[in-house]
Amino acid sequence: MKVENNLFIVSGGASGLGRQTVCSLVNKGAYVGIIDINAEASLALVEQLDEKYVHFPGSVDVTSEEQVEQAIQEIKIKFQIIPLVGAVLCSGVLMPPSHIEGYGPKSQLTSYQQFKHIVDINLLGTYNVIQKISNILIQNQPLNEDGERGVIITVSSITGLDGSLVGYGTSKAGIAGLTLPLARELAIFGIRSMCIAPGPFETPISTTAGDMKAPPCLFPSRHGHPTEFADTVIHLITSSMLNGSIIRLDGGLRI
Ligand SMILES: NC(=O)c1ccc[n+]([C@@H]2O[C@H](COP(=O)([O-])OP(=O)(O)OC[C@H]3O[C@@H](n4cnc5c(N)ncnc54)[C@H](O)[C@@H]3O)[C@@H](O)[C@H]2O)c1
Repeated sequence: MKVENNLFIVSGGASGLGRQTVCSLVNKGAYVGIIDINAEASLALVEQLDEKYVHFPGSVDVTSEEQVEQAIQEIKIKFQIIPLVGAVLCSGVLMPPSHIEGYGPKSQLTSYQQFKHIVDINLLGTYNVIQKISNILIQNQPLNEDGERGVIITVSSITGLDGSLVGYGTSKAGIAGLTLPLARELAIFGIRSMCIAPGPFETPISTTAGDMKAPPCLFPSRHGHPTEFADTVIHLITSSMLNGSIIRLDGGLRI
């Protein structure tokens, strides 16, 4: 599937990996709709990139079915005949807000409320956006001779694959686990499902990690740059044989 002159929706597009994905997609000639709870940062990005190519329909919490549905419809209306062909699901949180007690080494175990907060946003919120976008993708005319109609790219984490962090890691294991079942259910419509499981990347989310700072990767001995994530997204969009798999993007690091 090609990137240029197609419309993609990026959740979590206001910051970090999602933000760079928005920039890279626009640089490659795509149109992008941002779904994010952070209005200020999203609007700043729209201004930076040009509202002709990027649209932010207002603050959206990915856990709200109504807000997500409304935002997708508004993005569709804004870009009219440009076909919506894919989604990159980058929204997520690492830690629960500090007012929800129970997390960390000073407490016994992640509390149920903390677990629920993270799983609600990371896993259920991701699926909420996927489900609503898929309803649109399945109505697309075939985009190529394979009958491809769209691609869904989710973002897990190596914590989800290597068994680290009860709340965050479990939510990310759920996202990884969704990849193949989703590919199987969407295959008859010509829609692919791929998942990226990053190791540590230099983004604002790492500032919420407190004393749980990730070590450098095996090689290269550093954290990833968001451009390296966005390059992988572009590759997944354009390579039709990539389907139903989880790609570790971690420089060999095991957590
Ligand atoms: N940066 C890393 O080291 C790393 C590693 C592995 C996985 N990830 C995953 O990559 C994704 C992007 O992370 P990032 O590093 O860019 O973080 P980030 O904090 O820079 O960006 C996350 C974005 O999600 C948005 N968001 C949070 N809650 C939301 C909600 N309820 N509704 C809508 N939007 C919401 C935020 O406003 C923000 O724009 C996340 O899913 C994260 O778990 C990041």
